[in-house]
Amino acid sequence: MTATLTAWSIRRYGAPEHLTPVSRPIPTPGPGEVLIRIRASAVSRADGMMRAGTPRFARLFLGLRRPRHDLVGTCLSGEIAATGPGVSRFAIGDEVFGLAGLKFGANASHICLSETDMLVPKPAALSFEEAAVMCDGPLTSLNFLREVAKLRAGEKVLILGASGSLGSAAVQIATAMGADVTGTCSARNADMVAALGAGRVIDYAQEDFTRQAERYDVIYDTLGVSSFAKAKGSLTRSGRYVCPVLGLGLLGAMLRTSVAGTRKARFSATGMLKPDVLRPMLGTLVEMVEDGKLVPFIDRVYPLADLIEAHRHMETGHKRGNVVVV
Ligand SMILES: NC(=O)c1ccc[n+]([C@@H]2O[C@H](COP(=O)([O-])OP(=O)(O)OC[C@H]3O[C@@H](n4cnc5c(N)ncnc54)[C@H](OP(=O)(O)O)[C@@H]3O)[C@@H](O)[C@H]2O)c1
Repeated sequence: MTATLTAWSIRRYGAPEHLTPVSRPIPTPGPGEVLIRIRASAVSRADGMMRAGTPRFARLFLGLRRPRHDLVGTCLSGEIAATGPGVSRFAIGDEVFGLAGLKFGANASHICLSETDMLVPKPAALSFEEAAVMCDGPLTSLNFLREVAKLRAGEKVLILGASGSLGSAAVQIATAMGADVTGTCSARNADMVAALGAGRVIDYAQEDFTRQAERYDVIYDTLGVSSFAKAKGSLTRSGRYVCPVLGLGLLGAMLRTSVAGTRKARFSATGMLKPDVLRPMLGTLVEMVEDGKLVPFIDRVYPLADLIEAHRHMETGHKRGNVVVV
């Protein structure tokens, strides 16, 4: 009897209910490939957008009329179950985490990836659940704070959406980088954001940061809840507004500020960066984990069989940190 893997498929863009469980033969790793037995995988906002096919311009990469790859899930952790010919970086039994990215298929029991994909050894300090989300919030926020915003020690940073996946990682990373951190969140999450390292917490339902006198070197709008135009007055003269949610407003602000003005608006698509660029960033994050400066915040853990429920919770827009399936 052929051994089978369990995965989740999406044949047309839409709501969580469009997700369907599927069984397929477990693939044999080819030259340079490893077979991973997945222990945990993330259910991120990006996964939700890929499932729904939004924003529509993303379909240029995902497939115009229907998803080009029918399996879902992008970030994972697990153990190497088999290695293909010529594999030198990994051996059977190694614990790893990484990014399937646009290969998809991380919300599954097994996956084959190339050893040169974004795959690195899992540090003992991380559980499989924590390791599974490292390539979502932590990797994106390190990219935005260090590479895109060029945040420096001693600078003031405002993190909008500090209780989400990107935000909860950003608070810890900015603190580890020696920045002076303020985060926005609701009252129910204020203790969590302060415990992650924020020196000051703004309740977004009660206070509007744009009406306050404080000026920031960096405003990291993790959710796209503000805009460069609104945030500009709260930036220092050389301040940077960085946002991972691309829209026409942000695109226009990036174009305008690239040619004029001292305050800048910037975006990056972290998952589209090459493994050679991302791997050293994961190295930095692993060091932060091992130094006790970063622990991914896990909100809920669901069995893989409940992926639809996990997507529904993620889509409320009110998760705290990360959602994982095991
Ligand atoms: N460009 C890239 O490289 C990249 C990479 C990864 C993700 N992304 C994108 O980044 C975005 C953020 O994802 P995420 O996973 O961090 O989000 P998330 O975890 O779903 O954010 C949820 C959190 O945001 C809080 N929140 C809601 N409205 C708020 C507001 N107005 N002000 C402050 N906090 C608010 C919620 O708290 P309450 O419940 O208290 O309201 C909740 O804790 C997504 O759009 C995703 O697609 C981009």
